[in-house]
Amino acid sequence: MSVSPNNPIGIFDSGIGGLTVAHAIKELLPNEQLIYFGDTAHLPYGDKSEAAIQAYSVRIADVLLKKDCKLIVIACNSASSAAYELLKEYVRGVKIINVIDPMINRVASTFTKAAIGLIGTKRTVQSGVYLRKIDEANKGIALHQLATPLLAPMIEEGFFNNQISHEIIAQYLSAPELKGISALILACTHYPLIRKEIEEYYNHQPVAILDSSEVVALAVKEYLLSAGLLNSRVNGADQFLVSDYTASFEASTRLFFGQQVHLQEHPLWH
Ligand code: DGL
Repeated sequence: MSVSPNNPIGIFDSGIGGLTVAHAIKELLPNEQLIYFGDTAHLPYGDKSEAAIQAYSVRIADVLLKKDCKLIVIACNSASSAAYELLKEYVRGVKIINVIDPMINRVASTFTKAAIGLIGTKRTVQSGVYLRKIDEANKGIALHQLATPLLAPMIEEGFFNNQISHEIIAQYLSAPELKGISALILACTHYPLIRKEIEEYYNHQPVAILDSSEVVALAVKEYLLSAGLLNSRVNGADQFLVSDYTASFEASTRLFFGQQVHLQEHPLWH
């Protein structure tokens, strides 16, 4: 398939959490048309097997390729850890950007010999992908991971900035795994919504909070520039597809994208 600057950018996630990444891309690159796919019929991905996430991701890539996307962004850590290598092989001629590599580059260029924490879904943590890539970066960084499976559903239900979320976040962040860290990677695209609460938890402690939406948006811009695929003018409305529509998903898009958007149902299997 030949791609041109006018083609849209495809972005997908298990649900609507990846809209945080879509929002950062839109802010940085307002001329780009986005086609977002949220696999709401199969969320959460964080508790699924690698094989299941791979099957869903291939199906979603087919949808995005049919819409002539010039680039596919995996806006989900769980899918990035389970399906990135497979999608790279499966999708020929269209670049795939995951949310993990831009964060690893940021960490490796900012820290040496540091203890860094990571919170994410069970799938992301169990995959060991961050551990392997941090190790490969060879900066003497010790990564301390903790699976925090309650956080994504809690956020999706609109439970944040309240007493319940404060307590759950405090319970997780006080785990022995995260003692003595100098930075914390938010390895789930839902977590930018609780960034403020996490910063409040650390209060005056010198713990840098690292969220991937901006570094991923920068990686997208860098790639489009280098490939000569940056769009110079708006030429199509953004589309937001979901594999299962509910009014409550649509209402929640405001939280993740900064404004409510219209979701179109697009089942993955007919
Ligand atoms: N947004 C997904 C991620 O970045 C997590 C949500 C889920 O478990 O589906 O890992």
